[in-house]
Amino acid sequence: MGTARVIFDRWDGRYAERMSGVRSSAVRDLFAAAARPDVISLSGGMPDVRRVPHEAVQRALRDALKHDGAMALQYGGSDGRFALRTTIVGLMAESGARLTEDDLIVTAGAQQGLDLLAKVFLDPGDTIICEGPTYVGALQAFSAYQPRIECVPLDEHGMRMEELEETLKRLGPRGAKFIYTIPNFQNPAGVTLSPERRRRLLELARTYDIPVVEDDPYGRLRFDGGHILPLRALDAEVIYLGTFSKIFAPGLRLGWMAAPRPILAKVLLAKQAADLCGSAFGQCVAEHYMKGTGWRRVLADLTHTYGERRDAMLAALAEHFPGDVTWTHPEGGFFVWVTLPAHLDTKALLAEAVERGVTFVPGSDFYPDGRGCNCMRLAFCYESPEQIAEGVRRLAEVCEDKLELYRAFVAAGAVPAGARATG
Ligand SMILES: Cc1ncc(COP(=O)(O)O)c(C=O)c1O
Repeated sequence: MGTARVIFDRWDGRYAERMSGVRSSAVRDLFAAAARPDVISLSGGMPDVRRVPHEAVQRALRDALKHDGAMALQYGGSDGRFALRTTIVGLMAESGARLTEDDLIVTAGAQQGLDLLAKVFLDPGDTIICEGPTYVGALQAFSAYQPRIECVPLDEHGMRMEELEETLKRLGPRGAKFIYTIPNFQNPAGVTLSPERRRRLLELARTYDIPVVEDDPYGRLRFDGGHILPLRALDAEVIYLGTFSKIFAPGLRLGWMAAPRPILAKVLLAKQAADLCGSAFGQCVAEHYMKGTGWRRVLADLTHTYGERRDAMLAALAEHFPGDVTWTHPEGGFFVWVTLPAHLDTKALLAEAVERGVTFVPGSDFYPDGRGCNCMRLAFCYESPEQIAEGVRRLAEVCEDKLELYRAFVAAGAVPAGARATG
């Protein structure tokens, strides 16, 4: 990892107050280190686009220009091309959610959806509820609008409903602007919200009159177990964020937001201010790529590949990490969340890990308040099973010294034995 450069900024003091709480993400900062050929990247959640056949993309590009040439190169509607929205309606129907083209808009990735939602809902000091830990990009998007962020802890079945209820009670009716959740193969924890908890979450949201934002980039990347209905399928009031980043390619920057129409109208105004309209060209390419069944074969191959890599990671963790370290067992998606004994700081391990040729993301990045210090997120989406096994082995070596030291402290009574953060 290159050392962070300190840049003298003569405009310091002129920036808007809202930027003061926006932190850089270690994931982004690690991109340079992760690109070194000798470094095994267990940090970035990068879809393996190397497995997307270029011929299929070339065909989609050719068809886009042939059939939609002038339109593809022109400004388009702010809500996105109707044909792509029809494709999205079909995708949502497959996952169990019924809606029409008018119930959604196309966005520049789900990330833009997060930013636009924050823009239309949040005033400084407003409260929002997220899972703890949660997606670092959401924290970045939200924090620019200066909310107070309440984190509800997770366990292996997703957000814990008793804690959510306590939080809602404490805040009172309409006490939060929205509840943000990633129900499937959560980023960063890899866990999935159980069907019972999905129902309970919606009940609570209704009781306290708070909108729910469901962010679902990984829902189609399931290796084990059966499909679980999205929140949007259970309640048409839910705001749903989807993306083509994981089923096609993030380079297109295409996603969508389905929401009740009054909310969509507000979001559309914010989107017009942000970019007038999304890339018509990218939308045309996606439309053609998603025609026929080829994309389904590519996605099935990708999902199978991610599943093999998840297996490799879990096997390597079991082989190399000792009993005082725990981790989640994702049924899909990209990530495993590892919890070391409390008092160990994974941020302090990162430089040494990079030195030994492996990257991960420290757990505290996924909290707004520095919690999660003893945790780390490992991504299994990009490296081969062999590289993953080797990366985990190197990481275990890095952790082992610190674990030894920790155990010596525990033995000497200097650290409360068994103390462990919940992650
Ligand atoms: C939970 C979550 N939400 C949103 C995004 C952003 O996705 P997109 O590429 O669609 O902007 C990601 C990307 O990793 C993610 O993990």
